[in-house]
Amino acid sequence: MSYFITLEGPEGSGKTSHAKALAEHLRSLGWNVLHTREPGGTSIGDQIRDVLGSLENTAMRPSTEFLLFSASRAQHVEEVIRPHLEAGGVVVCDRYFDSSLAYQGHGHGLDLEALRQITRFATSGLTPELTLLLDLPAEDGLKRRQEGGSWNRLDAYALEFHRRVREGYLALATAEPERWVRIDALPAWEIVQNEIRAMTESRLAQEGGGE
Ligand code: TYD
Repeated sequence: MSYFITLEGPEGSGKTSHAKALAEHLRSLGWNVLHTREPGGTSIGDQIRDVLGSLENTAMRPSTEFLLFSASRAQHVEEVIRPHLEAGGVVVCDRYFDSSLAYQGHGHGLDLEALRQITRFATSGLTPELTLLLDLPAEDGLKRRQEGGSWNRLDAYALEFHRRVREGYLALATAEPERWVRIDALPAWEIVQNEIRAMTESRLAQEGGGE
C-alpha cells in the first residue's frame, strides 16, 4: 500500500527531527519508508536550496522564491516521491507544497489561486494523504531557531511574516480537515513524537494497512 505523509509547520516546530524519527519508527513496524525533505531531496533540489537559503540573496523576490521552490518540487516529485509511491512504499516528506501556500501565499501575500495552479503543474496534482501540522506560536519557533544556531535568509523575515505563516497554516488545515491533523508542538519532544506516531499509525490502519 502506498501512502504519502507530509510534515508542515513554522520555523522551530521540530519538523525535521520528528520526520526522521517517524520514518524510523514506521520502518521498525515493517513499512518500506522513504524519508525526504523540501527544498532539496535531489541533487538539483539541493543546489536550488543553496540559492534560496543564501544570506547574500537579499534581492530575491517572493515570486522568484516561489518558482524556485516549485522547480525543486517538480524534480523531487518525478525523481524521488512518485517512483517510491508507485513501488508501493510510504513517503515521509519534511515540507511540501503547503509550505509554499503558507510562506509565499499567506506570508508574502502572493495570489493563492495562482500558486495552486503552478503547484498542480509542478506536482502533476500529487497530494499527500496525511499532513501533520506541528503548530506553535511564531515567537516560540523563532526563539528555538535562534538558540539552535541554524539561522537562514528565510528565518530573518520579520516576526509579522512568521505570524502570517502560522495563521496561514491554521487556515489551510481548517479548509481540508480530512487531510490535516494539527499537533501542538510546544510540549516536550517525546510527547509530540508519540502523538505523531499514534496519529500516523491509526491513519495507516484505516487505509487497510499493516505490513
Ligand atoms: P530549512 O532550513 O529546511 O528550515 P526548516 O527546518 O524550518 O524546514 O529551510 C526551509 C525554509 O524554506 C523555511 O524557512 C521554510 C521555507 N520554505 C518556503 O518558504 N516555501 C516552501 O515551499 C518550502 C518548501 C520551504
